[in-house]
Amino acid sequence: MGRHIHVIGIGAGDPDYLTVQAINALNDTQVFFAMDKGLGKGGATRDLVALRRQICERFIREPGYRFVELPDPKRSTETDYREAVFDWHAARARIWAAAIATELAPDGVGAFLAWGDPSLYDSTLRILDAVSAEVDISYDVIPGITAVQALTARHRIPLNEVGASVLITTGRQLRARAVTGSAVVMLDAECSFLSCPPQTRIWWGAYLGTADELLVAGTVGEVGTRIAALRAEARARHGWIMDTYLLQAPD
Ligand SMILES: C[S@@+](CC[C@H](N)C(=O)[O-])C[C@H]1O[C@@H](n2cnc3c(N)ncnc32)[C@H](O)[C@@H]1O
Repeated sequence: MGRHIHVIGIGAGDPDYLTVQAINALNDTQVFFAMDKGLGKGGATRDLVALRRQICERFIREPGYRFVELPDPKRSTETDYREAVFDWHAARARIWAAAIATELAPDGVGAFLAWGDPSLYDSTLRILDAVSAEVDISYDVIPGITAVQALTARHRIPLNEVGASVLITTGRQLRARAVTGSAVVMLDAECSFLSCPPQTRIWWGAYLGTADELLVAGTVGEVGTRIAALRAEARARHGWIMDTYLLQAPD
């Protein structure tokens, strides 16, 4: 049958976000490959690795599985951003291919646990595609609950205006280009919402799905500076933060 890999979306915070499909895939896995440096710095890596282990302990009925930690190659800061990311993915693909070939039996089942869903700002699927050119593997994807869904559920809001589209973007992109309509912003370390017109509506969430969850909603003019202060305080206290927000530009 050959080596098989499950890429399992584990949801963006709450272990209760795991789907039945994800739990079945966890129970089918012999080797979990963990590549956690990419998730965040310092305490984030430690906390998120711990959460993954808790998920396995809670949902796997017959523990006989192993964790294999994959070293993370350094990303160059000297070349162009896209080129650096491309080289970094290629270096990771070589490491993953070697680990899969040595750690997984020829008919074994391995897994990568992807935070939220692997389709959203996650490099696992791009790297596995490159890995499959080097070792003979098949793989499947188990969808997970993204931070976007966690955000809209906790604020009890729809994502889109009636019949309208939604942009999913990053803080870096938001600073470069003003938003029209609705936009979800992820990967924003700089409170980029402060650059939006004050009438812009914002629904903000940090540590969604966890006991430390923070939620604030209003207009940027009303709540923007409060979010920035809350964010800085929480980040200092935890040593890391993950936050996401939905913006609705004024008409
Ligand atoms: C590398 S991306 C991964 C996204 C993930 N694949 C998903 O499906 O949500 C990390 C970003 O997702 C957002 N994020 C992930 N988990 C979050 C959470 N529990 N609370 C708030 N934002 C979160 C943050 O914007 C963070 O910077």
